Amino acid sequence: MPRFDVTIAGELNLDLILYGLPEQLLPERELLADGMMLTLGSSSAIVAHNLAALGSRVGFQSRIGNDPLGQIALDRLQQSGVDVSCVRSVPGTTTTGLTVILHHGAWRNILTYAGTIAETCWEDLDLDALADSRHFHLSSYYLQRGLRPRVGELFQFLKSKGLTISLDTNDDPENRWDADVLGVLPWVDVLLPNEYEACRLAHQDDPVQALSVLAGKVPLVVMKRGARGVLAQQGKEIIELQPRRTEVVDTIGAGDSFDAGFLHQFIRKASLEECLSFGNLAGALSTTRSGGTEAFRDAMHRREFLAKE
Ligand SMILES: Nc1ncnc2c1ncn2[C@@H]1O[C@H](COP(=O)(O)OP(=O)(O)OP(=O)(O)O)[C@@H](O)[C@H]1O
Ligand SMILES: [Mg+2]
Repeated sequence: MPRFDVTIAGELNLDLILYGLPEQLLPERELLADGMMLTLGSSSAIVAHNLAALGSRVGFQSRIGNDPLGQIALDRLQQSGVDVSCVRSVPGTTTTGLTVILHHGAWRNILTYAGTIAETCWEDLDLDALADSRHFHLSSYYLQRGLRPRVGELFQFLKSKGLTISLDTNDDPENRWDADVLGVLPWVDVLLPNEYEACRLAHQDDPVQALSVLAGKVPLVVMKRGARGVLAQQGKEIIELQPRRTEVVDTIGAGDSFDAGFLHQFIRKASLEECLSFGNLAGALSTTRSGGTEAFRDAMHRREFLAKE
């Protein structure tokens, strides 16, 4: 039996979230927030953390800086049971990345200092450890500037070792959506975009049309639709599922939490409907607390939420 259920190579950093700032951020004024949270950020690390919290065996690989924020992020990941023995702490001028989120209720500003996120590269990876798994997941394709040119090669290698592969590109901060991503899709089993990302990836304006185009390129496309849940296409079959209604604190990391819930079932060979339904449940759970992992870190809250019908 492989050592891990899921291995992930990607970004590891913290989110600093500020709540209650004025809508207009006037220059040269002191603007007061009425709440803050420093918590584990980065799509890859949130997926890893929440998968482990749900009970999957997860191996995580990344590069961080030799600095306090990197250490806090690493500790958080480890506390949820993720194997972080292959995370490299590299001294130097580049520090661990940081995302500052200014939360305005209906919308948010997301400001990222990429730091070591963009520097994680092929040489940082332990390929044997990544391959010692049933499944490999990659998040934030466009932020992984160091890894991006060799993602196709990585997928091909892991596929040859018998792993299934999922990809959540997340947003392209440069909004270019270059065609290189199409070159890695032949090795992808599950693509997990949100509606906007699906449209950009497929060069379509209509999300349903985008879903159909992408379903011609990968076996399964799972398109996340915020409070409206999920729309998935596998071949010609289309499934739509609504999420549970919740009191939303924020939706930061809901998509990554969805990925964790979905993959937790996918690697257990659950039906597509069960995978989507548990993805929705994990996404909704994430919205009940600040950031992407706080609702999963509180074991009692997590168990009660997941047990409710
Ligand atoms: N208001 C909500 N109520 C219930 N569930 C929600 C809500 N918002 C999001 N979700 C759940 O979280 C999933 C992911 O949401 P979303 O579409 O925001 O993903 P995303 O844009 O990839 O998020 P991220 O910002 O984490 O990358 C949804 O498919 C749904 O299951
Ligand atoms: Mg996302």
